[in-house]
Amino acid sequence: MTASQKQAPYLKALCEYAAREPARLHVPGHKGGPGADPLLLEAIGERALSLDIPALTYGIDIGPDPTPFEEAQQLAAQAWGAKRAWFLVNGASQGNLSAGLALAHHGDEVVVQRNAHSSAVDALVLSGLRPTFAAPELDPELGIAHCLAPQTLDAALARTPGAAGAWVVSPTYFGAVADVGALAEIAHARGVPLIVDEAWGAHMAFHEDLPAHALSLGADLVISSTHKIVGSLTQSAMLHLGEGGAERIGEDAVDRAVTLTESTSPSSLLTASLDAARRLAFLHGRELLAQTMQTLADARAQIRAIDGLDVLDERMTGRAGVFAYDPLRLAVDIRGIAATGYELAPMLRESGDINLELYGQNVVVAVFGMGERALPEATRLVSALREASARAGLDPSGASTSFAAPPPWGELAMTPREAFLGSQEAVPAADAAGRIAAESLATYPPGIPNVLPGERLTAQTLAYVQRTLELGGSVRGASDRLLHTVRVVVEDGSHGGRR
Ligand SMILES: Cc1ncc(COP(=O)(O)O)c(C=O)c1O
Repeated sequence: MTASQKQAPYLKALCEYAAREPARLHVPGHKGGPGADPLLLEAIGERALSLDIPALTYGIDIGPDPTPFEEAQQLAAQAWGAKRAWFLVNGASQGNLSAGLALAHHGDEVVVQRNAHSSAVDALVLSGLRPTFAAPELDPELGIAHCLAPQTLDAALARTPGAAGAWVVSPTYFGAVADVGALAEIAHARGVPLIVDEAWGAHMAFHEDLPAHALSLGADLVISSTHKIVGSLTQSAMLHLGEGGAERIGEDAVDRAVTLTESTSPSSLLTASLDAARRLAFLHGRELLAQTMQTLADARAQIRAIDGLDVLDERMTGRAGVFAYDPLRLAVDIRGIAATGYELAPMLRESGDINLELYGQNVVVAVFGMGERALPEATRLVSALREASARAGLDPSGASTSFAAPPPWGELAMTPREAFLGSQEAVPAADAAGRIAAESLATYPPGIPNVLPGERLTAQTLAYVQRTLELGGSVRGASDRLLHTVRVVVEDGSHGGRR
């Protein structure tokens, strides 16, 4: 451990600036507190407002090298084993946008795992990259998507000789971890970088019992949503460049892409929270994660003892698309009770004020953070689950809730960017089959795109999305959240326009 990992240099510099009570003749207009509405001041405190300090402040992110800001990013790179780390203030979403723009320096096409997050799809729109989608392994029992099998990536890259890169997701929302080592080998053998959206795995670098993290397995660029589990503030995230990534993608290309996708007024509170989260993870992550893993192992055993409930855990390892399992999610298989996740989630909310991260038909997911007090939360969840499942009763069909697999995606008739920017109109959903989508339709949770801009809409997919809405889910990306209408491309160009 280096002495400097014990520090949080950026946070310290902010505190020193605030303590000096300088003349704040700069933004933000609240001037560290006095200009803020009293309700905000009371809610978040003068201290937080005093640390809300703009970019380009001497002694914080400008001045002699390395500035505290540069030092903080260097410490993060060291902690995660990256060649370089960027702090992001627009979430892992910004990481995906940056990855797409950086890749576009190297070609026009890219292989993307189909259940990529919507921000990866937004990256296709921004970058103009033409995607070849690679299907993740579907779990027919649970009705969820796992990771990409290495052979699927290989086949997709073989179909896309001009690919600028391969872009995969691991871990998934449900905790499935991909065989990233094999994926990296395949990508590199085909001469392209591997981008891993590890939004859900920022903690994995800090305990040897957790699945190995993507950078350690040869990934070139890793998107890490530090706020999700490691405990920085919402919206803060990191982008890590691997050793090979510097050569295969280019540090400058990534740097420019990060700048382009970022506000010129990044929040110092978000950045400081990243600096501090890195410190916590590096110094205490191992011990905190060990405690959380133990608590969750106990909670899993208690949940499995409840009639009708099961859990997702390391028993999933070895299923198609599951190379390893990340235990920091508590995913509960509810197929044995007479309620879907859409019905169970409100029951848990009403009975115990339990607010879940995610719920689908067959699985509900509770997320646990690296350093939180997991025990009381897990105890609360277990007792609310016990009560709610007793109320729901057992599924008479015996753990066989049928899962309607999403229908195959439509043909890619134009790039997502062409469709997004092209002439378009809203048409009734009933008339949309056969038209080219100008927007995404991603049933949510878990936000996997069923339709992407540029793809031909099929009647089956429209019916599937409608059915998800009827079951209580929502659809992300759609301009009409109720899906009465869908935005489609005007193909002959003679009518429509961007209305
Ligand atoms: C796989 C994946 N990537 C990226 C993101 C975007 O992360 P953020 O909300 O930090 O922008 C998410 C968010 O849930 C995600 O699940």
